[in-house]
Amino acid sequence: MTNKVVINTDLEQGKINKNIYGHFAEHLGRCIYEGFWVGEDSPIPNTNGVRNDVVEALKKLEIPVLRWPGGCFADEYHWKDGIGPRENRKRMVNTHWGGVIENNHFGTHEFMMLCDMLGAEPYICGNVGSGTVQEMSEWVEYLTMDGESPMANWRRENGREAPWKLTYFGVGNENWGCGGNMRPEYYADLYRRYQTYVRNYGDNKIYKIAGGANVDDYNWTEVLMREAGKLMDGLSLHNYTIPGDFWLGKGSALDPSESEWFMTMKRALHMDELITNHSTIMDKYDPEKRVGMIIDEWGTWFDVEPGTNPGFLYQQNTIRDALVAGVHFHIFHDHSDRVQMANIAQTVNVLQAMVLTEGEKMLTTPTYHVFEMFKVHQDATKLAVDVQSEDYEFNGEKLSSVSVSASKDATGVKHISLCNINPKGVSSVSMNLRGLSGESFNVTGRILTAEETNAHNTFENPDNVKPAAFEGFTVEGDEMKVTLPPMSVVVLAVK
Ligand code: AHR
Repeated sequence: MTNKVVINTDLEQGKINKNIYGHFAEHLGRCIYEGFWVGEDSPIPNTNGVRNDVVEALKKLEIPVLRWPGGCFADEYHWKDGIGPRENRKRMVNTHWGGVIENNHFGTHEFMMLCDMLGAEPYICGNVGSGTVQEMSEWVEYLTMDGESPMANWRRENGREAPWKLTYFGVGNENWGCGGNMRPEYYADLYRRYQTYVRNYGDNKIYKIAGGANVDDYNWTEVLMREAGKLMDGLSLHNYTIPGDFWLGKGSALDPSESEWFMTMKRALHMDELITNHSTIMDKYDPEKRVGMIIDEWGTWFDVEPGTNPGFLYQQNTIRDALVAGVHFHIFHDHSDRVQMANIAQTVNVLQAMVLTEGEKMLTTPTYHVFEMFKVHQDATKLAVDVQSEDYEFNGEKLSSVSVSASKDATGVKHISLCNINPKGVSSVSMNLRGLSGESFNVTGRILTAEETNAHNTFENPDNVKPAAFEGFTVEGDEMKVTLPPMSVVVLAVK
């Protein structure tokens, strides 16, 4: 059987929310410090303390939204420690991540400045686990209150006259675990209470996100939706792609056996089932799909690179990560009626990163390139697609080799993305562009692929894996034949 795909160019299925291409940056390892923030006195070229090279690279991704300051760090973070003159800021221990000193030099003002530089909307996660209602309430007041008020006046004293615009606010993180080890009933009550004081000042309207389930904890979603669904705009879900066992060994980022490759793809594709099942529960309480599913932590999680701090979660990034990103986006698109945001963990130097740094050096990863190639789908109109895929078989288990998604942008250009997760087999795809019969159009393409399953970029060879022009297709009328090399990600533009 060959792979058969129909792109229904005239069947529109709503918008792909650009926030699906969101990011997450935590005070963890070298993400914030070294990754983004080097300080004004650093020899590394920076603007007001933020590294120029990282910002320049990330701007090309058109990051729509950036989540901060955690993660687990969020429920130990006290925002008042991170404002005012830097030399006076409290030095604390980042107990969760490596026990290192956190000097609080990167705080609220620095984060909002970073978002400005990137052109990204801020998504701030507040502290429920070890913080007070008053502290959370005052953070929102400090950020968004225009008139006279204690927090707004304090913000002005710290050099910022106008309030910032802040839409996305998370009421705690992983409250079933590092965010307080709570039962869903208890957290649902706390959520109801804390969110009451997350106020809308002036015309700033906060989109409130409740801490959601871990992986397949469907009871958490059930209880949260039942007890607090009416008081939230979004409910989060966290799921990482781990080929091994979280505690006994997750597997190496750079040296996957075929069994680990297969397991990585299987667990990445499992995201579809998780979204379907959590959505079904949400549908029961919210059939209009008002409440967004916010997948604010996803991505690969491997063993840390040998010799690095185990609490820093530093891992290399290969063509395998690129495929994981590509198939996740296809799944998110398929559920774009419910999934309103997703944030990959994490942007720099941590887990499935876009960018790695070493001193003054910086490289972009294969995952970065997928974000860059797929940005054409942001806020585009989803097109209906039918896919019949061949199997990728390993040890008697089967996965679909090929996944496909398509969208139409504001200028009418259609983009079709295709992934072939099979590391050994070429996939030939017969593709019908239904609805374009008789029309004249032109197709161009780009591909990201590699010869080896561990292909990656290094500081010595930063362009080892990068997109190239793609010519592996023919067009006849509205029929296309596309040849996808093993482990490849392709984006076609039909104009
Ligand atoms: O992204 C790393 C950690 O994973 C986050 O801090 C936490 O929320 C999750 O368990």
